[in-house]
Amino acid sequence: MMKKKDNKKHIVVFTGAGVSAESGLKTFRDSDGLWENYRIEEVATPEAWERNPKLVLEFYNMRRKQCMEAKPNNAHLLIAQLEKHYNVSVITQNIDDLHERAGSTNVLHLHGEIMKVRSSVDENLIYPINKWNLELGEKCEKGSQLRPHIVWFGEPVPMMEKAIEIVQTADVFIVVGSSLVVYPAAGLIFYAPTDIPKYLIDPGEFSSTITKNLIHIKKKATEGMQELYELLTKNVWV
Ligand code: APR
Repeated sequence: MMKKKDNKKHIVVFTGAGVSAESGLKTFRDSDGLWENYRIEEVATPEAWERNPKLVLEFYNMRRKQCMEAKPNNAHLLIAQLEKHYNVSVITQNIDDLHERAGSTNVLHLHGEIMKVRSSVDENLIYPINKWNLELGEKCEKGSQLRPHIVWFGEPVPMMEKAIEIVQTADVFIVVGSSLVVYPAAGLIFYAPTDIPKYLIDPGEFSSTITKNLIHIKKKATEGMQELYELLTKNVWV
């Protein structure tokens, strides 16, 4: 369980591809999103890796290159600045490192990290990568091909349990830029205490009955986070 370090309230920010859209990184399911141009089964499953590792590496090399070229936007920065007033946990579905580069100190990646690679025989052998391309023939210390440190469709989500524990201690829960369709991650919102305030910042359409006390700020991440930041810091509940 997350221990309370002080009497500050705990904000959990759960982010998806939409928080990085204004940094120039494509979402998955918007029109012209990544899944319009690639088939999930061809690049983001263990079977794809078995069948055509070169194509999988190329797909993630492109993601890594774009991530390295991108900069955090104002939504990432405001989420980091919330730490001046609150205990903040960021739980992200994103594989980019823009939250960290914006200054957030407590970031959990549910779906892996593009700036890391790992052994394909031992998931605990994880290495940072500081170049954009990972190639066939690059091996871990046990001699097996390195793969992107990504949770593919059909693989377990090892950080889920930790994420649930964090969400259960939230005083405020904020979702930024996620279609909330990919499980188990999308189910996190249901672990938040029932009566706490919940906000969803996303320009898309959502059912009004997702969960209790959910306020939909139907705006882009930068604009919506600005509005919410002002609201949350005007009346800091300490
Ligand atoms: N600001 C905020 N939200 C935005 C913006 C923006 N500028 N632009 C688009 N969005 C919203 C869309 O309305 C949509 O609801 O971002 C959301 C993106 O949804 P998805 O593309 O489905 O991304 P995400 O929810 O992160 O996907 C979850 O699916 O493909 C897998 O593993 C991948 O982690 C990813 C998971």
